[in-house]
Amino acid sequence: MTPYVADPVYLNGKFLPLADAGISPLDRGFLYGDGVYEVMPVYSRRPFRIGEHLKRLQATLDGIKLSNPLDSEGWKSVVLELIDVAPWEDQSIYLQVTRGADDKRDHAFPPASVPSTAFAFASPLVTTSADVRAKGVAAITVPDLRWARCDLKVISLLANVLARQQAVEQGCAEAILIRDGFMKEGAASNIFVVKNGILLAPPKTHLMLPGITYDVILELAESCGQPLKIAEITEAELRDADEVWMTSSTKEILSITTLDGVPVGSGQPGPLGAAMWQRYQDFKNNVMRKG
Ligand code: PDD
Repeated sequence: MTPYVADPVYLNGKFLPLADAGISPLDRGFLYGDGVYEVMPVYSRRPFRIGEHLKRLQATLDGIKLSNPLDSEGWKSVVLELIDVAPWEDQSIYLQVTRGADDKRDHAFPPASVPSTAFAFASPLVTTSADVRAKGVAAITVPDLRWARCDLKVISLLANVLARQQAVEQGCAEAILIRDGFMKEGAASNIFVVKNGILLAPPKTHLMLPGITYDVILELAESCGQPLKIAEITEAELRDADEVWMTSSTKEILSITTLDGVPVGSGQPGPLGAAMWQRYQDFKNNVMRKG
């Protein structure tokens, strides 16, 4: 077992040690990045919004015309089994389905008789330390070079990988993607902006991943009467923001306090971000941990 992946992992109907989980080098996930994935957080051994994650998995599979190797109940039992045997209370579950391995290399789909490859594993959920949260993190902006179906959670992530690596090389935590003058999302997160007490969120379109955490933030904002506007955010609005937050299943809510080397607002995590983080923690402890 690596410190990051629990044994056993799930591969094509079997639970087995990671070291024994082999796939063909002709797998289309490997050759073409032809597959989909999901990442879902687990709190106190309870998967958070598993129904929504499985729905997004299905939407992505439909989007790439790949049939789901398991139904919802099948995936739920795989996820619960992985959670059960992993040593951690809080976890992150990774699921992946690829279009399998044909006996030749051809861009077009293999015959229907070729089975897809389904893989899943549990990792510890690593949350952001209080120190990092207290200061917030730095981000850069980069042009969004991805394809035009960013609503699909596909494994071909090269543009995201290059964007985030560029951020890391500049000592930053995230790269914010700008397309045609609009802020879309982060390389691996959704982005929210606060201006004059109003929470701004970009709308769900084919150019942004519909985050499960994004939905939670909107629900929490609505339930506490937080003024909210869902509209495209320009690059200029992003740069002029009082607060910028990144959100994801693994990062939860994290304030971005420096953008391209310039302080965001006061340069400190702002009050709305702190309040939303607290609401998220309360929701996590009172709802997510209780199932
Ligand atoms: N990434 N946008 C992108 C491009 C993402 O990759 C992610 C999550 C999100 C946030 O989605 P959610 O709230 O459902 O986690 C938005 C995951 C964590 C990953 O790739 O590891």
